[in-house]
Amino acid sequence: MSRPIRSTDTQARNRDMKLFDGHQQIWLFGYGSLIFKADFPYIERRPASIRHWVRRFWQASHDHRGTVEVPGRVVTLIQQPGAICHGMAYLITPEEFAHLDFREKNGYLRFVTRMTFTDGSEADGLVYIATEDNEAFLGAASERDIALQIASATGPSGPNSEYLLSLAEALRELADHDEHVFGIERHLLDILD
Ligand code: SIN
Repeated sequence: MSRPIRSTDTQARNRDMKLFDGHQQIWLFGYGSLIFKADFPYIERRPASIRHWVRRFWQASHDHRGTVEVPGRVVTLIQQPGAICHGMAYLITPEEFAHLDFREKNGYLRFVTRMTFTDGSEADGLVYIATEDNEAFLGAASERDIALQIASATGPSGPNSEYLLSLAEALRELADHDEHVFGIERHLLDILD
């Protein structure tokens, strides 16, 4: 029997975290929609990267780019020694986390990460990761199957295809060649053709 699809809500767990308590400003590293959709105020925004993680379309979206009945697929981070994940860092105040926790509530938890900016300087900050033990974790599938699922899903934030295409465009602007994302994008464009 297949596991029933349940939505998961990480807001309370994130709210109770004491990471960077007392700090007036915190760096947030974004690697998915947080690169191309900054719907929160920030003090500064800088391209950055983190080590030992890769971006993967392995997380279900029940609340943004899909529904519980027809889930979309969005990115999370998977550990891979030596890998570098490029993204966008935002310097924000702690007040923004209520909105961010709501936005990332479908399985994502805040983790501390070290990030490197393009000038080589570094900072500690937070990143939202949906780990394998969350209810909405889907795991690996072929690029074609991921693209087919993305092509069929839409949610309150819009079509899942828009998420993928916006992410691919944002990564090109960052001069990041992410073969996982670009490979799925090629399949999607072929499916939509
Ligand atoms: C992120 O962008 O950093 C988290 C995943 C997402 O919201 O797409």
